[in-house]
Amino acid sequence: MSQHLLLSLVILAISPIPGAFQDSALSPTQEEPEDLDCGRPEPSARIVGGSDAQPGTWPWQVSLHQGGGHICGGSLIAPSWVLSAAHCFVRNGTLEPAAEWSAVLGVHSQDGPLDGAHVRAVAAILVPDNYSTVELGADLALLRLAEPARLGPAVRPVCLPRASHRFAHGTACWATGWGDVQEADPLPLPWVLQEVELRLLGEAACQCLYSQPGPFNLTLQLLPGMLCAGYPEGRRDTCQGDSGGPLVCKEGGRWFQAGITSFGFGCGRRNRPGVFTAVASYEAWIQEQVMGSEPGPAFPIQPQEPQSGPREPTEENCTIALPECGKASRPGAWPWEAQVMVPGSRPCHGALVSESWVLAPASCFPDLISSGRPPRDLEAWRVRLPSRPRAERVARLVPHENASWEDASDLALLQLRAPVNLSAAPRPVCLPHPEHYFLPGSRCRLARWGRGEPAPGPSALLEAELLSGWWCHCLYGHQGAPVPLPGDPPLALCPAYQEEEEAGRCWNDSRWSLLCREEGTWFLAGIRDFSSDCLRPRAFFPLQTHGPWISHVTQGAYLEDQLAWDWGLEGEETEAQTCPTHTEHGACGLRPEAAPLGVLWPWLAEVHVAGDRVCTGILVAPGWVLAATHCVLRLGSTTVPYIEVYLGRAGASPLPQGHQVSRLVISIRLPRHLGLRPPLALLELSSRVEPSPSALPICLHPGGIPPGASCWVLGWKDSQDRVPVAAAVSILTSRLCHCLYQSILPPDTLCVLYAEGQEDRCEVTSAPPLLCQTEGGSWVLMGMAIRGSREIFAAVGPEEAWISQTVGEAHFLPPSGSPYWPSEGNNLCPPDLARASGSPRAVLFLLLLTPLIQS
Ligand code: ARG
Repeated sequence: MSQHLLLSLVILAISPIPGAFQDSALSPTQEEPEDLDCGRPEPSARIVGGSDAQPGTWPWQVSLHQGGGHICGGSLIAPSWVLSAAHCFVRNGTLEPAAEWSAVLGVHSQDGPLDGAHVRAVAAILVPDNYSTVELGADLALLRLAEPARLGPAVRPVCLPRASHRFAHGTACWATGWGDVQEADPLPLPWVLQEVELRLLGEAACQCLYSQPGPFNLTLQLLPGMLCAGYPEGRRDTCQGDSGGPLVCKEGGRWFQAGITSFGFGCGRRNRPGVFTAVASYEAWIQEQVMGSEPGPAFPIQPQEPQSGPREPTEENCTIALPECGKASRPGAWPWEAQVMVPGSRPCHGALVSESWVLAPASCFPDLISSGRPPRDLEAWRVRLPSRPRAERVARLVPHENASWEDASDLALLQLRAPVNLSAAPRPVCLPHPEHYFLPGSRCRLARWGRGEPAPGPSALLEAELLSGWWCHCLYGHQGAPVPLPGDPPLALCPAYQEEEEAGRCWNDSRWSLLCREEGTWFLAGIRDFSSDCLRPRAFFPLQTHGPWISHVTQGAYLEDQLAWDWGLEGEETEAQTCPTHTEHGACGLRPEAAPLGVLWPWLAEVHVAGDRVCTGILVAPGWVLAATHCVLRLGSTTVPYIEVYLGRAGASPLPQGHQVSRLVISIRLPRHLGLRPPLALLELSSRVEPSPSALPICLHPGGIPPGASCWVLGWKDSQDRVPVAAAVSILTSRLCHCLYQSILPPDTLCVLYAEGQEDRCEVTSAPPLLCQTEGGSWVLMGMAIRGSREIFAAVGPEEAWISQTVGEAHFLPPSGSPYWPSEGNNLCPPDLARASGSPRAVLFLLLLTPLIQS
């Protein structure tokens, strides 16, 4: 999937620090010839998870500027030479002109005046011939300065390792730079050089980490000339903007540059240490380039061979880090559950997201939002965390900037006065990265959020299963907008509940958060404001879009990589790109393109009549099913039989993602028809069903055939196992219909012609419906079969007024295209058709129909 996403994370997504300073006009000074002592910072006095360096600690650190801003790091290796990374200078396979670049030496804070720093133009950029992309190695570059650097306490070269130099695994080394402090989170002003201690990882240990599927489900093959440094658990790393900068290790009182910052997958992620260019591997290349320049770089002999040290065991010793967040002993015992206690109001439920930060709805703290000022009584606030003997004090409250006007951003972060020790409890919940894709079918739970009513009974722990993006998007709004693809931020996350709605239980006035589990680890996936409709919340605002804000504020919330990648068949989901339009009553007639015919028909109901027969019914509104009168009512009987309706089930075999819904029928409504028993009946259900992929009303068409539609008779192969089957048909014009069946048909009748070999697919006793799928993708109900027939259907369109009045929320699509029937020239029937109507089968049906249609 999103390969472009990955690339933007790993390479060169470096925006220049704007207007850091102008190249100041420094008068060239006569440099004292100085013997090249390397790797020794003179006086004394991070990057992801690092800290401000002291001025003068890393005198070889160079900032490489292009267009007036910092782009990459580099290291001074000789008065006229800077070592950096090739990828800083190669764009689309071509080397950028050296004239665009300048090297800033002796700089500490990049904000404001240079303070002893000086700038040198770059005369030439040299890159190994075999460099192509960072993943293929040889990511180094040499920059020849137009004039030698002025060496001094703040500007000194680093020592380079010889090819034979060995750095022991586990050695603590330091990386430095002005790069991002987290993914997509630039170093804040005053842009002080950052340093971070990183441990060298052996090749096998690093390869083992990178062989674990990680971000974007990707793995990496390490190559000779690469070197890893960092920690399996992540959290300390280099990041965008640090590239080209040095990784240095101290040996015998001198600093040797072991690596050049090259790339990583994300920054500071678990099992994804930084990858550096191993400088020692390129001794020969460097020597060759700088040949003849005086003084050249220093390659001191390695002070002492590393003690046998942690010699690297091959293969074994693969220490993978497991997630530190999101572990709960059992659902409901949430170790991150935080209660914010504000004097004078009910506790507000939030979640612990790091050692020091709690995430909660901003609306819990209305004064904060209305005044925009930090609350004065923060002293008196407390946060209760599980297994902590006393409540924590609060140091700071940071509302989301859009909190007051956008429910999706109703968030605030509270910083605790003192960080808590993480253990089994308290333990933070995992937060998703923006590109997280919660797989359809993910297991989720609802958890309390904010200041809602106490959860209504044990259902607070209600289990839910995530709907696919297509269903979520198309069912709950956002019509017209394209359905976001996996990896793009979703607009909503929709849980489908395992159990049916319990009557009388109202979820009004409750806020909820949605926790979803991947590989046993819980993520805070979504939040939800009050639902106005007294129902279980159906669509949540995804939290992943707020990941960057949360990590920016907290500098250490546990954003965790996606852990489940088993997309199964859904992986190559051929989801429709846009949703069929809704009617004024919401979504109707949705059916994913990918569903194999016969599996998922959300409006197809089993209507069990008095325990002795089963008719097909079609859900036309949340509380109404349309069926054929002759199937549900015995001829002559006037009492309403005992009728049960099942949705979301396919006979004996439950639907794969189906959640069965059952209702009793409390009344049967028939339209007024003169003299005749009307063919269509509306069954009123004992209570509404919530629209879902297993119970969704179909759309209705006010008349005529939707232009460009494809039509089907939907029924069961047999009335015992009731596996839905659809037979392709074409609807005949009324003239053809009339000619075929002579004049014996009632006026509002549709006739169909089955596609070759499809006529025996469904049985007829259950009175199957006739459906069409419009060009826009909506499924519409056209008619219900007339007694005993598979070719003749009572049309729904002409009953629009009756249906709309009876059910209130019928999904009639706006009339489209052709009128009810195209007018046809004459009324004469072609002789061959008249003959066809004489076929034995047609004659039989006509005979069967006769009693019904006498007027
Ligand atoms: N390629 C990045 C740059 O151009 C450096 C990325 C380092 N990433 C890491 N996770 N260590 O600045």
